[in-house]
This record gives sequence, C-alpha cells and structure tokens, in this order.
Amino acid sequence: MYIGADYYPEHWPRNRWETDARLMKKAGFNVVRLAEFSWVMLEPEEGRFEFDWLDDAINVLGRQGISVILGTPTAVMPAWLARKYPNALAVQNTGQRIVWGLRKNNCFTNGAYRLLSERITRAMAGHYHNNPRVIGWQTDNEINGPHCYCDTCRAEWQDWLRARYGSLQTLNQAWGTHFWGHFYQTWGEIQTPTHEHHNPSACLDWRRFNSWLNIRFQHEQVVVLRSLCPRHFITHNFMAFGTTQTNPHDLAMDLDVAAWDNYPVWADPEIKYGAACGADLVRSLKKKNFWIMEQTAGGGGWDVLNRNPRPGEIRNIALQQVAHGADAMVWFRWRTCTAGREQYWHGILGHDGKPGRRYRECTATARDLHKLAPLLANTTLKPKVAIVYDQDSRWAFETQRSYKNNEVPAAIRRYYDAFFRAGINVDIIRPSDPLTGYKIIVAPELFVLPDATASKLCDFVRAGGVLLTDLRTGVMTETCLAHTHTLPGLLTDMLGITIEEYEGLNGDKQTYPLAGTDAFPGTFTSTLYADWIKPGQAEVLARYDAWHLKSHAALTRHRHGKGTGYYLGTIAAEPAFYDALIKAVLDSAKLKPVLAPPPGIEITLREGASRKLLFIINHLEQAVTMKVPAGNVELLSGRRTGPSLTLDRYGAAVIRLK
Ligand code: GLA
Ligand code: ZN
Repeated sequence: MYIGADYYPEHWPRNRWETDARLMKKAGFNVVRLAEFSWVMLEPEEGRFEFDWLDDAINVLGRQGISVILGTPTAVMPAWLARKYPNALAVQNTGQRIVWGLRKNNCFTNGAYRLLSERITRAMAGHYHNNPRVIGWQTDNEINGPHCYCDTCRAEWQDWLRARYGSLQTLNQAWGTHFWGHFYQTWGEIQTPTHEHHNPSACLDWRRFNSWLNIRFQHEQVVVLRSLCPRHFITHNFMAFGTTQTNPHDLAMDLDVAAWDNYPVWADPEIKYGAACGADLVRSLKKKNFWIMEQTAGGGGWDVLNRNPRPGEIRNIALQQVAHGADAMVWFRWRTCTAGREQYWHGILGHDGKPGRRYRECTATARDLHKLAPLLANTTLKPKVAIVYDQDSRWAFETQRSYKNNEVPAAIRRYYDAFFRAGINVDIIRPSDPLTGYKIIVAPELFVLPDATASKLCDFVRAGGVLLTDLRTGVMTETCLAHTHTLPGLLTDMLGITIEEYEGLNGDKQTYPLAGTDAFPGTFTSTLYADWIKPGQAEVLARYDAWHLKSHAALTRHRHGKGTGYYLGTIAAEPAFYDALIKAVLDSAKLKPVLAPPPGIEITLREGASRKLLFIINHLEQAVTMKVPAGNVELLSGRRTGPSLTLDRYGAAVIRLK
C-alpha cells in the first residue's frame, strides 16, 4: 500500500532532505508527490530545463525506498511566462486581465500557455520515463478553471457552439433567443455570458464549454504522458464536490485512477458525512478504488486558523477513507511551509521540522494501514444504492437557484446522510451510468432532465427498482428551456402524480407544517420550496398542513410495474424526516444494512476476493460500545470479537466477516 506525504524539497535546504527522507521511512512512508507547483524551478527560462535538483531529491528519497508521483507543474505559470505572453492570463468578466500572483490564473485557449504546458510535460516525461523511482503522474492540480472572457475564448466558444448546434437556427431555438429579442444572426455576435442574468441556456452551455476546455487541457498532457511513460499511471487530485468548473466524471475518463484531496476538519463537522460522500463520488468516477492525494495532517487556513485534528482524529480521517475504498494515503503536507500563502496550512511536521504528535499519529496510522493492506487487496464497496449527481443540473441552478441557497451537493446530502446513519453504502453516479445492479436509485433535483434519462428511470422502476426523486426534477430540457409537459413530465405515470403549481418559500417566515399519514407517521416542517402535488394514482405519505393545500401531497409513493417510485416535493427541516423516508425506501427494496450502527458510528463493507471486511468508524469524542457479529477477527487488534465491541473516541475496527 502506498502511504506518504506531499513533499516540497525545493522549500528546504538540501542538507535537510536526508533527514526528511529518513523520518519518512521511519514513519512507514513509501511514496511522495513532488513538483506540482515547480514549473519555474524546472524551466527557469523558456526552453531551458533544470532537472538536477529534482533528480537529487528523488535520489535522496529513493535511497530510503520512497517512490515518487510527479505533478505536471502547470497549476502555476512562471512569472516569465506571464510577462512574455500576457494573454496567457485569464480575463475576468469585468474585462480586466487577472493579475499574476496566485494559482490557476491561466486562459485555457491561449496558444502560448497550451504549448508551453505541453512542452514542460514532454520535457519532464522524457526525463523521468526511465527513472525507477517514478511510478505515476498527477495532472496539474485540482483542475478548476477559471472562466476566461478573452477574445480567443470567445472565438473558441463560438466554434464550440457551431460544432454542437450546426446551424444558427438550431442554436436560436435551443437557447430560446426570441426572449428579449436576443436572436443571433451571425456566429460572431455570440457573446460570452459575463453576467449571471444572461440567458440561462447560454449560461449552461458556457459552463459545459469551460469544463470541456479544462478536460482538453488535461488531455493534451495525458497524450504526452501516455506516449512517453507507458509504464506510469496517470491520476488527478479531485476536489470531490468542491468545485463546479469541471464535470468530474468527464475529467476522470482520461485517467487510470482517481485521487482526491480531503480536508474534513475545515468545516468542523462532528460526523464526517461530507468526507464520506466525497469519497463515494471519487470512487464512482472510475468505478474503482482511489487515492487520497492530500489528506488532512493538521489545522489549515489561509487567513484564520482552522482547528487542529484532535488526538486520534488523523487516524479516524484516514481509516474513514480506506473504509470508502481509498487504496493509498498521501498526507498534505510533509512540513508546514515558512513562506507564502499557506504558512498556516499545517503539515505532519510544524515549521520547526521536529517530529511531534501529528508525526506519531501518522506513523501509527501507517502501521495500521500496512497491516491491513494484504487483506484490502482486491476489495471494494459494492453498494446496492446509487445517488445520481448531475453536473448539468448543478450548473443550471447556478444561474437559477429556484429556491434560496439551493446547491445540488446539499440536496444529495439530505439523503446521503440518512443512508450513512442507516449503515447503507452508496455510489454517486452520473445520469448516463448504467443502473443495473442497484436496487435503489435516489435522483435529487434532476432539474435538467433529457427524455432519455427520464425513460431510463421509468424502466428501472418498471423492472423492480425503487426510485426516489424530488423537487425541481424534470423541469428543464437539455438546453435549459422549460419542458412544456405538466410536471413531472415523462415520470408522471411512474410516480402516479401531477404537479401543476409550485412555489419557493422564503426562509423561516414561510414554512408549512408537514404531516405524515398513517403509512408515514410524524410531524415535520416543510421549508424553502413546495410542490403542490396532485396525488392521482399515488399513495400520499405526507401532506402540507395548510388550509389551501389540503388536497395536495408533499410526499408520495407509487407502485409501478414491479417497482416503486417515491416523490418528495419539499425540503424537510428535520433530519429525522429523511431517516424515516430512507427507512421506507429501504423497506420497499427489502434492503438491510450488515449492521445497524448506533449514532455517530459509520459502517462500510469492503468485499471481494472471497473476503468481507466490515469497517466500523467512531466519529464521536467518546467511547461507544455496540453489538457486532461475534466470533470474527478484528484485524487492527488481532482479537476475536465477542457479541459487543467498545470503540475508543475516534476509534475504528475492521472485522473480517466469516
Ligand atoms: C488544495 C491544494 C493544495 C493546498 C491545499 C491547502 O487542496 O491542492 O496545494 O493549497 O489545498 O490549501
Ligand atoms: Zn481566454
């Protein structure tokens, strides 16, 4: 198993490298990621390359048995590049060029930037393809834009639209340019949508186009790496749901393995739902296990400091990811940098470079992971539940939220967290992924719903699947025109409902009491949005308790073919509502967790190679005693399980099921 750190030898005097490498080895590390921000050190002036320092660092590390992943260093362009080719810097929507000095300042259509990025990639690949220490590549770093509004981007945008729509007549129709008299008569008239109130169809395509630019940029590097380094793997460090600039499923297509950067103490959650959900997305990108390329090793912050991981929490964070399918663990960063914007972003070592508490915890965690590694081999999660994440819908909501603060990842989390609490593992798939093998599909806020996807969801239910979908689903066509059918459009027969009216609700002032029926007992609160559902054929599970909505439903269920379709037309304030709903959905699918976890405990199952490994993670700062399957081996302690098990605060257990 690869375990290690993100290391920046160029930040430290050479006479320190040996100490670092020895400390890494002592910690059980066998990999580092290097160089993803080192373009100017590798190419100090255009066309002159200097690899000696990096060769030396790789040699020092190599002597301690440490392998290397190299980042293509294009996330920060050298100052000389920006000076020599100023158009390489992106133009903001105000028309002003970005001032060089951060990261990701580049325009993705600028010829100089693309050629130079390809050239540094080629130079590095040529230099390192035979280096026995180098095992793989990370493309760029957290690829995520920016949107650029320069002239070449505009020209490419027009070309992209021409390729997509073929004729202006088709584009005018697809965008509905009759509105406000925005009809285009030449391709050259098409503007980049600089304002959030530009035509929503144009805004959605603009986001698709920008995602495509990012993917093309990565592809140009991948082509070089594949041809020069056929033995190396190629990965990229995703931000899971943390950026909307690039469709992650598309970006992953060119890669061998997906990786991600996990910083869960940032938002200080008690229970790390977000880290679990991010991991499930990243695992689902390639439908296989993934790497952690940056794992929280200390408190972060670019201005104020975040909290420090508590004793035991570094291990908890790492094991949670392994429980979700991580097969490698790289902590960010080895040593806290004394300079620059990330002086506060704490690594395993502090500014002083002395191995302390965090080093000891990483060492102990590495020991656990090496111990588990042989049994983890060829195991992964095999969920029977998938949540659909639709990037198009997320983008479309960016120009028309529909209700206050609407965010697709938050919509996903309403259900995701309830599955987590129920001890049920999920995949996070894209709408075009196959649905075979799943018993339950949850499709939150599929705002942009092409007919083909709608039909696929109906087929899934007809064949015996359980579908749960909700508000704003099926509102828009693929080009962000409102469908003209009565909602929920093609899903009507399957869900057994119609929705003629709906509304946004304004914060705390406007809510409805939400009353469950006998089949779904309880009272809750409906917030932010309400579909006025006409139940038709469907069974009503909850209603709005409001004088004008007595005959309407808020939550329905409908048997269709061999399966069941659930529809929720609102957002409940109470997590308990979602727990009850997910319980009902699980019952409909006759699906049970391996083990029902007590509050604060997370359960996942890695299986394969005739092994079943049950991960139990305690997210609480207190010990928890719970029932477990007796007579199995707990792999971290090597002890046989009795009928119950006590997990320390932040503790974990990995039970090999018989
Ligand atoms: C991201 C980047 C890192 C670093 C960390 C901490 O994940 O990939 O280079 O900037 O955030 O800020
Ligand atoms: Zn540009």
